[in-house]
Amino acid sequence: MISSFSLTTEEIRAAYGEGACQCPSPNEQMSLIFSQSKPFDLVELEQLLVSVGWSHRPVGKVRKALDNSLLKVGLWKHDPTFPRLIGFARCTGDGVLEATVWDVAVNPLYQGFGLGKQLMGYVNQSLRQIGIRRITLFADPGVVNFYLSQGWILEPKGHRCAFWYAN
Ligand SMILES: CC(C)(COP(=O)(O)OP(=O)(O)OC[C@H]1O[C@@H](n2cnc3c(N)ncnc32)[C@H](O)[C@@H]1OP(=O)(O)O)[C@@H](O)C(=O)NCCC(=O)NCCS
Repeated sequence: MISSFSLTTEEIRAAYGEGACQCPSPNEQMSLIFSQSKPFDLVELEQLLVSVGWSHRPVGKVRKALDNSLLKVGLWKHDPTFPRLIGFARCTGDGVLEATVWDVAVNPLYQGFGLGKQLMGYVNQSLRQIGIRRITLFADPGVVNFYLSQGWILEPKGHRCAFWYAN
């Protein structure tokens, strides 16, 4: 069951930045927060992305990629002194018409409780709030159904196709 452990808006804003909000939690003892403005510890972010099986990326490039991203979302497990990053997603785009979602990850310990779906819902809603209507992403083969079940449309459907230049 998904429930929400309650923190005041002021507490959330003070700890997680302007616009941060609660994410429904699978456990009433655990409070979860979405934030677009709490700075990331790049080592912690790297640990999260490695924990889902992705390879290491140079910290300097990751920092620049974050700086150049349109939207960076952290899903935090609340702790008054030591909040933990348990989910992440970011988007690139022109800020007006189009956006592409990258690096969607939920820590394996917290997978299977609906948090990935909540995270994607939050990302979609945030992009819509800034007026973006067309959102794309590249899904790994093992997670195509994760996106399909949330209403994403799989391409190619005959009239569009993605090409990947390997070299
Ligand atoms: C993909 C990922 C973000 C899903 O997070 P999660 O919190 O486990 O997902 P949820 O619990 O919200 O699952 C929502 C639904 O998708 C389904 N689902 C979850 N992972 C799935 C997968 N890999 N393949 C197919 N369906 C999946 C769930 O069964 C659930 O279905 P339901 O609504 O019918 O119960 C997470 O597994 C992850 O971080 N994976 C590794 C990184 C990755 O592959 N990211 C995507 C890059 S394209």
